[in-house]
Amino acid sequence: MKNIYKNSSLNLDKAKRILKKNNVIGVPTETVYGLAGNAYSNKSIRRIYALKKRPKRNPLIIHYYSLKDLKKDAHIDEKFLKLYKKFSPGPLTYVLKKRNNSKISTLANANLGSIAVRFPSNKVIKALLKKLNFPLAIPSANISSGVSPIKADDVIDEFGKKISFVLNGGKSRIGLESTVINLIGKIKILRPGAVSNNQISLVLKKKVSISMKTKKINSPGLLKKHYSPGIPMKLNSKKPDYKAAFIVFGKKYKKKKDMFNLSKKGNLKQAAGNLYKTLRKIKKLKYKKINVVKIPNHNIGIAINDRLRKAAN
Ligand code: TXA
Ligand code: MG
Repeated sequence: MKNIYKNSSLNLDKAKRILKKNNVIGVPTETVYGLAGNAYSNKSIRRIYALKKRPKRNPLIIHYYSLKDLKKDAHIDEKFLKLYKKFSPGPLTYVLKKRNNSKISTLANANLGSIAVRFPSNKVIKALLKKLNFPLAIPSANISSGVSPIKADDVIDEFGKKISFVLNGGKSRIGLESTVINLIGKIKILRPGAVSNNQISLVLKKKVSISMKTKKINSPGLLKKHYSPGIPMKLNSKKPDYKAAFIVFGKKYKKKKDMFNLSKKGNLKQAAGNLYKTLRKIKKLKYKKINVVKIPNHNIGIAINDRLRKAAN
């Protein structure tokens, strides 16, 4: 018994019953799999933090089905609406001002006064959100600082029997966490993802840059060690060290033992989709060291390099 449930109307109802009791379940999204809990309930938020062993000052993203529901919890403006129209539902998370009368648990936002929100596009999580009369707090379904899961089995890998219900939505299409954009005051990208800063700049008709600040906790996912397989990792390598797993990209690498190609045809989207799967595999194969070649730093390559840097930290 693996606690993985296929997408069916019966199982969506079952998921709903569990969430209403303020328990936590595993859910699919197009970016990565998450641990979902009722965002209105302190109890479920506490459960999420405890399961993930996540520091309480690292806030969660609140996931919605409709704009109408979001308006109860956050102040929105024209810039938000422009981006929303272009990129939602999808892999973009907006940091907005939280409404004073919002029912979202303050534990979920680390008492920040801001709220990070997302409208996922995966059809299974959308169908579930539509059935609920509360939004869901959904961090990635991994133990804090580890590699994010991109399929239902990975969630079981991370939590074992501690999670009794994982909704199956197939493999996450994108395979990297959403782009996080701050829309309070100066607009900036707090975490790069599938939606690039260039795409955002085009919509807003102004240059939006990626925040490289590493001091203040704007978005803790930006800082310190994160996304880590727990194995020493060296970036921008030309060749592998002794007995190391070698992560490569592109067609110039001929297949070899210990070599893992993120995309033989040199496609960055494909590489993004393969990154966490590859890290998980290398960990299972018990390699003691990882070398990674240089990955092109444009489009979603920026997000890949962001995760690699933090995994190597
Ligand atoms: O793609 C995703 O965003 C996935 C799926 C499951 O939706 N979720 C995800 O959640 O990656 P998590 O908890 O692993 O990462 C949330 C990121 C963290 O870097 C956190 O610091 C930032 O969002 N964040 C959350 N609330 C914030 C806020 N109020 N202000 C600034 N950053 C915030
Ligand atoms: Mg995470």
